[in-house]
Parts: sequence; structure tokens; C-alpha cells
Amino acid sequence: MTASGSDLVAVLGGGGREHALVWRLLQDGRRVVALPGSDAIPGSVPVDLESDAEVLTELRRLAPSLVVIGPEAPLERGLADTLRAEGFAVLGPGKAGARLESSKAFAKDFMVRHGVATARHETVTGLEAALAALAHFPGGVVVKYDGLAAGKGVIVCADRAEAEAAVRELATRHGDGATLLLEERLVGREVSLLALTDGRDVALFPPAQDHKRLGDGDTGPNTGGMGAYCPVPFCNAAVLAEIDAQIVEPTLRGLAQDGIAFRGILYFGVMVTAAGPRLLEYNTRFGDPEAQAVLPQVKGDLAQLFLATARGELGASRVESHAGYTVAVVSAAAGYPGTPMKGTPIEGLDVADALVFHAGTRRAPGGTGFVTAGGRVLSVVARGDTFRAARARAYAAADQVRFDGMQRRSDVGKQAEPKRIAILFSGRGSNMEAILASIREGELQGFAEPVLAVTDKPDAKGIEVAKRFDVPVATQPSKGIPRADYDATLAGLLQTSRVDYVVLAGFMRILSPVMVRAFPRRILNVHPADTRAHQGLHGYAWAFEAKLPETWVTIHWVDEGLDTGPVIHRARVDLTGATTLEEVERRGLAVEHREYALALKNLILEQA
Ligand code: GAR
Repeated sequence: MTASGSDLVAVLGGGGREHALVWRLLQDGRRVVALPGSDAIPGSVPVDLESDAEVLTELRRLAPSLVVIGPEAPLERGLADTLRAEGFAVLGPGKAGARLESSKAFAKDFMVRHGVATARHETVTGLEAALAALAHFPGGVVVKYDGLAAGKGVIVCADRAEAEAAVRELATRHGDGATLLLEERLVGREVSLLALTDGRDVALFPPAQDHKRLGDGDTGPNTGGMGAYCPVPFCNAAVLAEIDAQIVEPTLRGLAQDGIAFRGILYFGVMVTAAGPRLLEYNTRFGDPEAQAVLPQVKGDLAQLFLATARGELGASRVESHAGYTVAVVSAAAGYPGTPMKGTPIEGLDVADALVFHAGTRRAPGGTGFVTAGGRVLSVVARGDTFRAARARAYAAADQVRFDGMQRRSDVGKQAEPKRIAILFSGRGSNMEAILASIREGELQGFAEPVLAVTDKPDAKGIEVAKRFDVPVATQPSKGIPRADYDATLAGLLQTSRVDYVVLAGFMRILSPVMVRAFPRRILNVHPADTRAHQGLHGYAWAFEAKLPETWVTIHWVDEGLDTGPVIHRARVDLTGATTLEEVERRGLAVEHREYALALKNLILEQA
């Protein structure tokens, strides 16, 4: 495999991430050692990872062909530089590259200088300056400590009181002279995009999502990560293309311009927002627990890719991934993230059908089993053809592992589930078609899933459209049925189908309070005019007859009135040169089709 002829890979570190790395490299048929590893990681060689000299001595003895540096601390110290100077092939950036993670202020400056899409920010030093600057962030702020803080240096604040408390907490923990970064709070969905890069070329791993908070529904204190899954369904081709163009590419250009030779893992912590992707942070190593979810998804010879990266020969190589999904569920000790309870016996580690990666465990003194020895104790990881299968398998296995006071989230991967939508129509269904096409292979892919189409007209042309997309159709004729009764039936049907959003697409009925109350801010409509200027039918005929040079398409929440609900989005239709009603309609519908799907995607992001 190497110039030195050895096929030995040395992984530095001893947590869950490193356990997953060792496991994955063993799949590639390599011999693997872990320094210092742990009682649970095969091939562990005890060493003090904080001592570069000790690590170097041990590596000289072992003579591996590749050294993979797992955690951030040795990278920040510049261990990769030391090892490279000794002739080792190393996966991990040198001190200069590691600053992208170890200094938040440096990273932010790098992003701004190189045009990497990111949130608005201010860097402040000292408690007083930080408190004063909070006024510049009325829409919520994220407070970050400028330094390594083991995943605990970032506090997301919803309001001013939370922000002041966060500033005080970080200033107390790190000293009043600490540099803090205040950043505009973004609304959207987070994605962890990991990449192999040799500073010239880049190979992306399938996207993953971490779960930072301790409790279900993203509640409770921040942790190092309570679970992850991979890939992320909503991170579709369109989203990935935006991330690539606005974040990954400018970063690579920036590294080249700054003369930073980066050979390792570059981790992009991205918030996907309605305005596009924004980079929250870089890490310069595998995430934990992302690694536990990403690595089992990777197909092919990963060790070879690592080596090519370490040698600066990544070229056009790509990370191949398996079909299906991986879900990693973390079990944490009682007391975590405060003071975790140590020494608690762990039972049921021998799970079938899943992997167990140890993080905070050690061998029971004198015994054969394991006891807890840290905050995040272990993760249970399973794959499946569908997301649901992977999740069910991971939780079934995780249920077998038990220890007193164990803390675990029960909703890892829940955010991955697409929103369930129903489409209501009365006519030809061209808007329904546009949305279904977008879900199948466009912007809405992974964001939404169509569970039902409903029409009040048994002969509506749209029925064929829904069938073509394999969407079940419910025909609910309205003749002779009082409006409230009709809507009660409709609401019941939609509730039974556990619908998140009701999408009206040419549904020619005014909804009664029964429906509107059953789905508050969950029913949307597209209207072929500015709702302030024209309500009801024939929006395009109205614009045509008035010879307007432009008209509008409105996407709005539905209330009990006729096109009176709050506006979500308005888009312009240029009518210059449109001399027939058909042309007006053609241009209008093109805008409807594009904007309706987009508006739906954006509101799913904003209501995340
Ligand atoms: C669309 O132009 C839509 O804006 C309009 O009906 C048409 C339905 O076409 N809706 C309204 O006028 C609501 N007041 P489609 O069935 O091909 O989607």
C-alpha cells in the first residue's frame, strides 16, 4: 500500500469517532492500531496523546504507512506538521489549517475574506463590549467562544435575556478578557458536510445531521452530540449544488490563496436557510457522532482514499456510498453534560444487527464487562434500506444496551422525515404536477412527501396527474353537502393521513372554519394575482383585460375569507408584449409552478 511497504494504519484518539474509524479501516482489510485507543477498540496501543514526543516514539516503532488524527487538540498543537516533517503520511491538517476550527474568529475572517456564505457577525473582547454589542442582533444571536471548547463553546439564544446569560457564562468560564463571536441566529436546518481534501481537490462524504441538544425535540442543554444520521434526505442535489458553489469551492480557493496546505478532513457545519446555505463553522476532523453515522455508509477502499489525501493525490477520486441510511444513537451517562456518573456497569453490549462504538467506557475492574467512564458512553449504529428501517433497527439494538441512569434521545433522525403533504385540486392540476415533479427530482426532494390528493370534482383532469405520480386520490364530491359538513369530512380524512401541510392547487372552494382551525397555518394556496388587487376567479383574465404590464402570483396562508390569508410570498409576472390571454396565462402559470414549490420548501425550512 505504501512506499514503506507497510499496510498498517495508525488512528490517533480513543473515542467513539476513532472506534468507528478503526472499524471502517478494518473493513478495508488493513491492519489498524489506535493510539491510545481504548479498552474497547481493537489494536489499542497505550500512549499519552498529549505528548507529541511519546506519540512520535511510538509511531517510529510502529512505522505505519498512514496516520489518521482523530481529535482536534493534537491538530491544533501542530502534531500533523511534526509527523509530516518525520516523513509520515498524515490525514489531518497542520497547525495553520487547524486554525479553521481552533479559532472561531480566524475562521469567520477567512469566510468573509474568501466570500464563503455565512451569517453576519461581530467579534468582541470582554464582557462589557459583548453585552453592548448584543443590541445589534435583535433577531436572536449565537454566542461563541473563540477557542476549542469541546463542542460546548457555542450557545444559541432566542432572546436578549438568554443572550446576556450566555455572554456572562462564557466570559466567566473563559475569563473576562475572552474573545467572543456574536453571530446572527439563522433559521433553517443544519447539515454536517464532511469532505476529504488535499487542498486542491475535494471529495464529499454523504451529508449527515447531528443532534446537539440533550433532549428530544432539540430541548435541554448542548452536548457533544446525541446522535446522527446519514445521508440527509432534504440535502438533495439542488441543496448540495448550492453548498458546493457558495461554501465548498470558495473555501478551497481561500486555502490556496492563503497558502494553507490542508490535507485532511474538512467539516462544513451548514445551516440551510430560505436565503440559501450559510456556513456556521468549520471543523478540521471527523465529527463525533457524525463519523459513526457517515463511515458505515462509505463504500469501497476508504483507506486508499485517506492515503491519497494524505499524499496530496486525491485528484478526481470520489467517496462512493452505499444505498440506504445509517442511524447512530448515543447513550450518555447519568449527569451528562454536567458531571457524568462513572463506573456504572453496562449490560447488553452484545447486540445483533447493529454496531456499538464505545466512547466513554472502560473494562470493569477485574471483570470482563464494561463500565461507564465518560459523558457520552457509546453509540449504537444500524443501517437500513429505508430511513425508517435504519432507525427502527438502531433503536431496537440500543434498547438492549442498558446502564443505570442512561440518557438517550428517542427522536434521532426524526427531522429527516419529509413533511407529509396533501394536495387539493378541482381542475387540470398543473400546480399539483409541478409540486409532485419537484418532490420527485427537484428542489422539494427530501423536504416533502405527497400522501394524498383530494378533489371535489369526480371528472377533474388532475386525477390522472396524481395517478401518474402514484399519489392516492380521494374524490369527495360536494354536491348537496353543507359546507361545514363537507369540511369536517375533509379535515378528518387529512388528519387520518397525518398531513403536515395542505396544499391547495386550484381547489375552487372557500374553506370553512372547521378546516381552517383543524390546520392552523398549515393550509396554503396559490392565487393568480396580487391578492390585494384581485380576489376570486379569473386572475389572468382580469390582468389581461386591464392591459397590465405586469401581474403577480401570490402564495398565501388560507383563512376563512376569499384570498384574504397572510401572504407567504409574492412573485412578479412580466406581461410586456403578451397580447393574448393564453400568453398571459402561460407566463403566469410558469411563475406559479416555479414559485409554489420554492415557497413550500422555504416555509418548511423556516418552520423547521
Ligand atoms: C391556477 O392558475 C391557480 O392560481 C388558480 O387556479 C389555477 C389552477 O390551475 N387558482 C385560483 O384562481 C384560486 N383563486 P391548475 O389546476 O393547473 O393548478
